[in-house]
Amino acid sequence: MDERIITAKIQVYTISELPEIEKNLISAARTISGNAYAPYSSFQVGAAVLLENGQIITGNNQENAAYPSGLCAERVALFFANAQYPNLKVKAIAITAQTGDLFVSNPTAPCGACRQVILESENRADYPIRILMAGSDIVYAVDSIKELLPLHFDKSNLKHE
Ligand code: THU
Repeated sequence: MDERIITAKIQVYTISELPEIEKNLISAARTISGNAYAPYSSFQVGAAVLLENGQIITGNNQENAAYPSGLCAERVALFFANAQYPNLKVKAIAITAQTGDLFVSNPTAPCGACRQVILESENRADYPIRILMAGSDIVYAVDSIKELLPLHFDKSNLKHE
């Protein structure tokens, strides 16, 4: 038996330390989280995607009485961005969450399914996506989804000899 240790390195910032463009991205995610449709969880998530031309696309979670039919904020934003601008690279995504009027203090990390979708976006453009997981004051950041999904399944797994 052999063992391998996989580590993840995240950057931890206070919001004030971030460059203006990333502050703006977090602010866009916070604005859109207020429009989330989350009557079942009361956990409203906002996601803002930064495209290579500087445009910001936002999305929020959309819940459903048939629970699995809902969709997370990250996928709403990313699918829309990739649908509208299939040839523009996604450079970054910011994720925020609020309950009622209060922004959640713990940084919100993307769920497993959203990680897989972020990975697909990275791979399709062959460009790493910076992920900003914003709490009310603290932000966790990684420069690629591969930090959060080190052992992943992608198109290379479908090539079998
Ligand atoms: N949610 C997101 O929108 N993004 C995540 O990364 C985590 C969870 C949503 C799904 C559901 O509407 C609510 O948050 C509670 O899980």
